[in-house]
Amino acid sequence: MAKISLGVTSSVSIYKACEILREFQKEGHEVQVIETKNATALIPPALFNALSGRRTIVELFDDQNAWSVAHVALAKEIGLFVVAPATANILAKFAQGLADDFLSTFYLAVQAPILIAPAMNEAMWIHPQTQDNVRRLRERGVEFVDPAGGYLACGDEGMGRLADPNLIVARGLELLCRGSSLQGKKVLVTAGPTREAMDPVRYLSNRSSGKMGFEIAREARRRGAEVVLVTGPVTIAPPPGIEVVRVVSAAEMKAAVDKRFSKADVTVMAAAVADFTFAAPAVRKIKKEGLKTSLDIVRTPDILKGLGERKRPGQTLVGFAAETNAAAAAARKKIREKNLDLIVANDVSREGIGFDADANQAVLTDRRGRSRKTDVLSKRALAAVIWDAVEGLRGQKK
Ligand code: C5P
Repeated sequence: MAKISLGVTSSVSIYKACEILREFQKEGHEVQVIETKNATALIPPALFNALSGRRTIVELFDDQNAWSVAHVALAKEIGLFVVAPATANILAKFAQGLADDFLSTFYLAVQAPILIAPAMNEAMWIHPQTQDNVRRLRERGVEFVDPAGGYLACGDEGMGRLADPNLIVARGLELLCRGSSLQGKKVLVTAGPTREAMDPVRYLSNRSSGKMGFEIAREARRRGAEVVLVTGPVTIAPPPGIEVVRVVSAAEMKAAVDKRFSKADVTVMAAAVADFTFAAPAVRKIKKEGLKTSLDIVRTPDILKGLGERKRPGQTLVGFAAETNAAAAAARKKIREKNLDLIVANDVSREGIGFDADANQAVLTDRRGRSRKTDVLSKRALAAVIWDAVEGLRGQKK
């Protein structure tokens, strides 16, 4: 049994929220309703109180119950946050991060999967401003059940009707499973660049920020896995609840990963491991006068390839490919060469995505050679897409 928060806003389709609440309950889940103030004009909290068996939350500040911190406490408890019906207004507030009532404040505190089912007049739904808000929320990993076509409350025919409550509940239950889909599984993730020392002061490295690998680790944790994150030098803070192993060079990363690989059910090598290291790093800082015009470099060991050779049945291995041109063929070749199950190729030559950016776009290719290109997504949303793909592959294996 999980706890679900059901956000309800003031669309005429609000009566369908009662059915959604009931369906979640039938599946054995506890539902806490949160209404906006406008919604209470259509259905007073008393009805939701009676249906849910819990006091409906409306106000951010309520002296009696000290709700002022309740949004944070409740946000931590829930396994799913559903907003159905969602008005254009609440979409705009969520997209902007505006927090002026309980529901919009709660949205910012939620870590669980979020599902939104909008309902409004067609002109409002297709308005570029609304569509822009939906796109922004999708990029952040929020899931939608889009409105359906048909007869609208305003008398018009068109898109904007709240989707079928059964569809909303079914999608919600799927997302809820995500919360524990990796329960009991051990996941190993690498992230960030490596640094190859030339002397104690200088090094060779790359522009990786570690953001993609950190989001992959965070998402695995969110799905219930026990996660070890081996990271090169980065400046970002690690997600909570995971074991972090900090390394500097490719050789150190290899040692840390090799030691932990055999226990991992899934290993994701998102690190941008340096391909070269200095053949003979100096023990002391090389003086300007002593600098040669060339330095000998040697290839670093391919950590991922080594893992592919050791991989046992039941273990899933995911590699990354940072390409500067779209390279599905190269991805397929790499998947075979390194004995991977999935490869995530992203184009690092484009501004605003890939290296160091918050957004990313990738081509996912699996071991059967099936490829698919994602939209431009936040790294957090892409991490969920990658885990869905990994879980899909592991499901087929059984
Ligand atoms: O062959 P390429 O460097 O493009 O492969 C990239 C993938 O291999 C990434 O998943 C990266 O983490 C991994 N890799 C590695 N050891 C290296 C270089 C890359 O494990 N020395």
